[in-house]
Amino acid sequence: MILDVRPPKVFAPLWKSKRRYLCAWGGRGSGKSWDRAMHMIVRHLTEPGLSSICLRDVQKSLDQSVFKLLVETAARLGVAEAIRPVESDRIIRTPGNGIIAFNGMNEFNAENIKSLEGFDIAWWEEAATAGQGPLDMLRPTLRKPGSQIWFTYNPRLRSDPVDVMMRQDARFADSRTVVEANWRDNPFRGPELEEERLLDLAGDEARYRHIWEGDYEAESDMQFIGGGLVREAMARQPFSQIGDELVLGVDVARFGDDRSVIWARRGRDAQTELPIIMKGADTMAVAARVMAEIDRLHPDGVFIDEGGVGGGVIDRCRQMGYSVVGVNFGGKADRAIEGVPKCRNKRAQMWATMREWLRSGGCIPDSRDLEMDLTGPLYSFDVNNAIEIEKKSDMKKRGVSSPDEADALALTFAYPVVPRSIQRQQEARAQEDWHPVWGSQ
Ligand SMILES: Nc1ncnc2c1ncn2[C@@H]1O[C@H](COP(=O)(O)OP(=O)(O)OP(=O)(O)O)[C@@H](O)[C@H]1O
Ligand SMILES: [Mg+2]
Repeated sequence: MILDVRPPKVFAPLWKSKRRYLCAWGGRGSGKSWDRAMHMIVRHLTEPGLSSICLRDVQKSLDQSVFKLLVETAARLGVAEAIRPVESDRIIRTPGNGIIAFNGMNEFNAENIKSLEGFDIAWWEEAATAGQGPLDMLRPTLRKPGSQIWFTYNPRLRSDPVDVMMRQDARFADSRTVVEANWRDNPFRGPELEEERLLDLAGDEARYRHIWEGDYEAESDMQFIGGGLVREAMARQPFSQIGDELVLGVDVARFGDDRSVIWARRGRDAQTELPIIMKGADTMAVAARVMAEIDRLHPDGVFIDEGGVGGGVIDRCRQMGYSVVGVNFGGKADRAIEGVPKCRNKRAQMWATMREWLRSGGCIPDSRDLEMDLTGPLYSFDVNNAIEIEKKSDMKKRGVSSPDEADALALTFAYPVVPRSIQRQQEARAQEDWHPVWGSQ
């Protein structure tokens, strides 16, 4: 059988490489996805029994995967009879009992990721948004001799974990084969794509360079949290584990704004407990609701914005015997967190921590208001090159509403919290061991 395989020249190194990591990055329409699809089909035809998995961050349905692309690629290469899609099982059967599976990384956790051990190839498509956590989980899991991990992506931020791993981190230099591909490397791109490119070329240059030439996202629009990141976090399904911390964040109305927000987050899950939004409530009413939530949820930590009238809420809670922690937005950023840039103040630090959390699998409710909140604040660098998040009062001046919901969520990251659930379990066990006459022995 002679296959008519014509990958653009630029991808040749990937076809020859035996290295563990293969990566194609670059701008739109460069043939990255088509090339990997062809390579995967060819390998499955020439190596019977091969098993591959096609991954992406989030996959809600098969339509979001490269399933269709692979089926069409097989048809184009004239091998449709050897490649048998079984849509209902979300797999493609290939020669010699081989298989190609399709999953979102959001479906895996530390336990069930082990089911990936037997795969020979994992192809992570659109990997720019891959979180550090899922990447770190995947790497040691794919451990079959000769197994490979493929990445395709259009660069987004310099700090994106896949970009660091495939283009920056020298430790991976001998383990990876990386090609850059852009529109001019793809001789097959059609007139529609060219028309799109020319339209963008006539517009904003930084944007053009990002979309078509594989440049990082323009820093000119200094939006701290991008819309893509927020929408991914909204699409994820929450799962929490027994050892996950439960934290309450409380943003108290200020600057003439009348919304106070109380929000509970358990580990990666900020979706199950929806934010409680109180309009026009005074400090006593907010405090009462906070205490009711503490009674209901028994959180491991409670962080309340102490600026403005927030002090009143804190005082009231304490007076009633509740243990809460006040957080000063303008206070010092008091710790260095891995992956989080240098921050000007506490609020910037909380927002930066929240952004990392969103990147690494955080789940939030699907709400347009929340999206506006999270993507609203701009950021800048101060003289010490530390990140500063736009103040609420400045946002008001710009006509953007104050991000109260996002601030409440950010407050849940004010300080690290030790989950009490583990402690509680130990206490419960100690109780069981306790004898009414002999006491604990
Ligand atoms: N080997 C090929 N033979 C014929 N046409 C091709 C080939 N490779 C790519 N093309 C054409 O180029 C188009 C863009 O390719 P592809 O979707 O793989 O690019 P990409 O780099 O993944 O783009 P994006 O960044 O938008 O995901 C395809 O829709 C197809 O029309
Ligand atoms: Mg693509």
